[in-house]
Amino acid sequence: MTSQFAKKGEAWSARFSEPVSDLVKRYTASVFFDKRLAPHDIDGSLAHAAMLARQGIISAADHAAIEQGMAQIRSEIAVGAFDWQLDLEDVHLNIEKRLTELVGDAGKRLHTGRSRNDQVATDIRLYVRAAIDDIDLLLRALRLALLDLAEQHADTIMPGFTHLQVAQPITFGHHMMAYVEMFGRDAERMQDCRKRVNRLPLGAAALAGTTFPIDRQQVAAALGFDDVCHNSLDAVSDRDFAIEFCAAAALIMTHVSRMSEELVLWMSPRIGFIDIADRFCTGSSIMPQKKNPDVPELARGKTGRVNGHLIALLTLMKGQPLAYNKDNQEDKEPLFDTVDTVVDTLRIFADMAGGITVKAEAMGAAALQGYATATDLADYLVKKGVPFRDAHEAVARAVRACVDQGCDLSDLSLEELRRYSPLIELDIFGVLILAGSVAARDHVGGTAPRQVRLAIARVRAQLT
Ligand code: ARG
Repeated sequence: MTSQFAKKGEAWSARFSEPVSDLVKRYTASVFFDKRLAPHDIDGSLAHAAMLARQGIISAADHAAIEQGMAQIRSEIAVGAFDWQLDLEDVHLNIEKRLTELVGDAGKRLHTGRSRNDQVATDIRLYVRAAIDDIDLLLRALRLALLDLAEQHADTIMPGFTHLQVAQPITFGHHMMAYVEMFGRDAERMQDCRKRVNRLPLGAAALAGTTFPIDRQQVAAALGFDDVCHNSLDAVSDRDFAIEFCAAAALIMTHVSRMSEELVLWMSPRIGFIDIADRFCTGSSIMPQKKNPDVPELARGKTGRVNGHLIALLTLMKGQPLAYNKDNQEDKEPLFDTVDTVVDTLRIFADMAGGITVKAEAMGAAALQGYATATDLADYLVKKGVPFRDAHEAVARAVRACVDQGCDLSDLSLEELRRYSPLIELDIFGVLILAGSVAARDHVGGTAPRQVRLAIARVRAQLT
């Protein structure tokens, strides 16, 4: 006997004696956000159908009908002509229903040996894999833009900070290369995550596998997966790959956020190290003089939202017994928003890097304040045989004298300097100038312009 509401199309309605309320329908439906999985859902279905046909589980005619129906559905979705229905709950049931409308029983046979549980797990893995590949290209573009900036400013001197106090002179190129390193590790992390994303859940069916003679390796190969998931319960239930992706995404945003904080500080007229092209800034509705670095500020803010998505997914997973639970439907919005946020942010930052004007004079002037070459003076004394701790002490006394007199170490005469150590000679003035200080740090990882250029060449060779 068919229940009275079976006509409405719920895939399981024969089992129930009353329909769900509209509120419950809306509460449990995911179609309005998971419809973005449609291209992956169709790819997965086509690979599954091809395997069913090759294994003799469905006929060649059914397979051909499924292929033809899916081609039409794909184009209906692409042009916005597909009629998404809340009543059909999710992307999977919407597409299956339409397929059946178009090709009849062949459409109803597609779900043989499969469940929405392994289907959705497959769709998300395909989605995350594509996102990783997009992010890889964007990280590459961002690093190339930063390499250009670093190259233009391999010799531009600025103060390096620790505790946000002037520490030692560095080059702006070296500073940019620090971010190139960070974004390089982010790209590595994404590639590493990709290995675990790229395994096929399909074939796990609802949780225990299927009684049909399926060939999972065939489906994996058709979809470009490196391997299959080796346990059906694990395949349908764990979302660790999505969590791992969000963790890697949160680190990208953390690096973007640190850079944003610096851009905002540097653009403040109080510091005045850089200007950011107008197209990345906005004005104030009340203060006519304002030009605000909105893009880096927003990126810093959006980092919080991506971090939040990571915590949401960890929390979503932690209490779930094996195997699939409906909780997992909640994995999608955080995941999608993470991808959207990271992709937009990286795209804008790659563009914005080319719109940064460096004010080298302001940077140089700032490096002259704060006794940035004090360590160089101490190192000079050490090279003359003074133990480092004693050299440190002698220089600290010299700095104190400069503070009292309101001058720089390099403003002291040789005679005055020799009061702190008789070993100081005329060559000290080459050491105390900023260019001498940075050039002297000439080893792998150091700030010397020569090393910055070598670092740029090394990364450029990896990227091109
Ligand atoms: N929309 C569901 C999700 O996102 C698809 C899987 C539903 N499975 C089920 N047994 N209800 O997870």
